[in-house]
Amino acid sequence: MIALPKGRLADQTLQLFAAAGLSLPAANKDRKLILASSRGDIRYVMSKPADVPTYVEYGAADLGICGLDTLRESRRHVYEPLLLPFGYCRLCLAAPVNRPDTPLRYASQPRVATKYPNLTADFFRARGVNAEIIALNGSVELGPLVGLADLIVDLVETGSTLQANGLVETRTIMQIQAVLIANRAAYHLKRTAVESVIGRLRSHLAQGQ
Ligand code: PRP
Repeated sequence: MIALPKGRLADQTLQLFAAAGLSLPAANKDRKLILASSRGDIRYVMSKPADVPTYVEYGAADLGICGLDTLRESRRHVYEPLLLPFGYCRLCLAAPVNRPDTPLRYASQPRVATKYPNLTADFFRARGVNAEIIALNGSVELGPLVGLADLIVDLVETGSTLQANGLVETRTIMQIQAVLIANRAAYHLKRTAVESVIGRLRSHLAQGQ
């Protein structure tokens, strides 16, 4: 079983699998969540990206694709056999453009809105800053605009969302890209099946270099 992410990473994941000669999920007209591949040799589970590390750590899926942001935030213990060449962006600290001071200079407790409460807490803790983390599920850039937060920690790809909302990037916390993850037990116990998928992806990617 392979956990594939719905949403942003979905198209490039499917393109990569097809290009590597792996058989893709058959067409899905009835919203099934578990899909057999067209050749019937692989089963796929279509998942919310944030759930992919959970499926893989528990062995519900042997392999999965997600972003490094999602993986690190999840704190799940999995193998990471292959970084994938898409989903590039960065996790950043950003502040209102008219008040770009970093919290590192704030005397008082900054309020920080984010979809990444664990990574954000780690970042501030490592710098001895006592931040109040406000966990949101999306549109984090709204935080400072509506007076909910002083700062945000969020993904930046082109920077246009920050710019459109009067925010400026003040720190890069982490470089992000997509990653293939593997269940630790399956990696050894189902080595032939797991390695055949990893091997196909790896040799396809090596050809492109
Ligand atoms: C992501 C991210 C930023 C935006 C960054 O949001 O959280 O909001 O994309 O991209 P940019 O730098 O190219 O403007 P997404 O579209 O996934 O929606 P969300 O904020 O609702 O999670």
